[in-house]
Amino acid sequence: MLIRNETAADIPSIGRLISEALLLLPQSTGTEAGIVERLRTDGPLTLSLVAEDKGEVVGYLATSPARVGTQGGWVLIGPLVVLPSRHGQGIGTALMKEAINRLRSTFRGAALVGDPGYCSRFGFRAFAGLGVADCPPEVVQALPFDGSEPRGELIHHRAFGLNQQC
Ligand SMILES: CC(C)(COP(=O)(O)OP(=O)(O)OC[C@H]1O[C@@H](n2cnc3c(N)ncnc32)[C@H](O)[C@@H]1OP(=O)(O)O)[C@@H](O)C(=O)NCCC(=O)NCCS
Repeated sequence: MLIRNETAADIPSIGRLISEALLLLPQSTGTEAGIVERLRTDGPLTLSLVAEDKGEVVGYLATSPARVGTQGGWVLIGPLVVLPSRHGQGIGTALMKEAINRLRSTFRGAALVGDPGYCSRFGFRAFAGLGVADCPPEVVQALPFDGSEPRGELIHHRAFGLNQQC
């Protein structure tokens, strides 16, 4: 399996993968593929990583710049998706580790709205005062790279629309 940057040829597969993988999630809004399209078009898709196996896109991770309150320098990870038939094979872990390695030198820290059970494997945790309106606080998680204490609302790029990840 190879983790690499997306190419133009991957774009249709990425859209299908996001829609298929997130169908399983009750909190999915069904808009996530469109969010990635908007991030790609508007320019702030800082990372767009695919996991490729035997020519097939089996996993995907996107990142975009974010703020915590008024503090810039944060990066938002998401969506992170793996083809349902390939869950449990280390693909999500490989994508997440590659993303963290690439982001560490550029950003203050990474943040996400996601499953704490999974994301804690990579060092993400909730912080008092870190949140997203209408989201349970435990799903809003951060991994500071420089010891920063994230405190305030996690502000996504406008491509997400208000609270669309909850
Ligand atoms: C979450 C997701 C990306 C994990 O991808 P994956 O390739 O299956 O994950 P990995 O193979 O790297 O890791 C699997 C391990 O994580 C655990 N795991 C997976 N989802 C978990 C969750 N929600 N809570 C706790 N543990 C979880 C598995 O039990 C497995 O544990 P093991 O290594 O002890 O056997 C994938 O299930 C997915 O696409 N889910 C739908 C989208 C989603 O929830 N994205 C948000 C992620 S924050």
